Amino acid sequence: MIRIFKLKNIISIKDFERKDIDYILDEAAKLENIAKSKETCDELKGKILGLMFFEPSTRTKLSFETAMKRLSGECIGFENSGSSSVSKGESIADTAKMFEGYSDALVIRHELEGVSKFISDIVDVPVINAGDGAGQHPTQTLLDLYTIKKEIGKIDDLKIALIGDLKFGRTVHSLSNALCLYNNVKIYLVSPKKLKMPQEVLHDLDKTNINYEEVESIEEIIDDVDVLYVTRIQKERFGDINDYLKIKGAYIVNKKMLEGKNAIVMHPLPRIDEIDGDVDDTKYNKYFNQAFNAVPVRMAILKTLIKNNPK
Ligand code: NCD
Repeated sequence: MIRIFKLKNIISIKDFERKDIDYILDEAAKLENIAKSKETCDELKGKILGLMFFEPSTRTKLSFETAMKRLSGECIGFENSGSSSVSKGESIADTAKMFEGYSDALVIRHELEGVSKFISDIVDVPVINAGDGAGQHPTQTLLDLYTIKKEIGKIDDLKIALIGDLKFGRTVHSLSNALCLYNNVKIYLVSPKKLKMPQEVLHDLDKTNINYEEVESIEEIIDDVDVLYVTRIQKERFGDINDYLKIKGAYIVNKKMLEGKNAIVMHPLPRIDEIDGDVDDTKYNKYFNQAFNAVPVRMAILKTLIKNNPK
């Protein structure tokens, strides 16, 4: 069998070529009806997904679970290490080895960068990084791209503003890397000085033809963009809470700012105060659609990885 999608693990979006992303987005489009009509299909009947969530999650964990169930598979796992034997001192490696024996693929969220990669090196089942510290969040990026394609019709020629915590926000790191695979994209990086995009990511952008610009206010760019991608200030990654309190509330998108503009508003969620509630009932709000799109996109990911890598 010739496999179009060759990746066994989803650790970093940097491992993807454009054709790999296209493959997952096309598969997701085919599965969307099942997710929408709340039906199930038998694609992963009898398969088990292991969920190892060492950090809090609502959407990522629930959408992986929903995706697996819509494919008639089942899930096992934990959502905080306190309820697993890690709290008794078991190593992550031992926990992962045990999960490998129980399940057909593993989804891992951890506060340390590199943990998913480490686990993928010691187990034989596919490993999916569901967020590693301030590192990467590749499956969020796939659903972000799916949402952009669906709402705007294309990803090439896009003008997008990434707003908020660009330093610690893993979603914007992965998304920036992925956008480098598309043509004629312009990225505006909008953040407080202390939360600028890390040098490593800027270095990745510099290695490609992508056009990017660092700016400090939304007003400067709002007339020029198709997408405002707003993010939460990542409170849990600040060493000193006072530094967080000084920056909190630095950017707020509200209905008044958006009136007469063409941009759509996206957010990986959860939001704290960076999008005013008055945007929710407007045409600009695409963040709830984006959260729904997690289901067909994660269905496509699970179907592809588990079917391509039978035990
Ligand atoms: C994001 C994450 O965990 O990185 N949430 C998500 O997966 N939808 C964003 C965040 O926590 O701010």
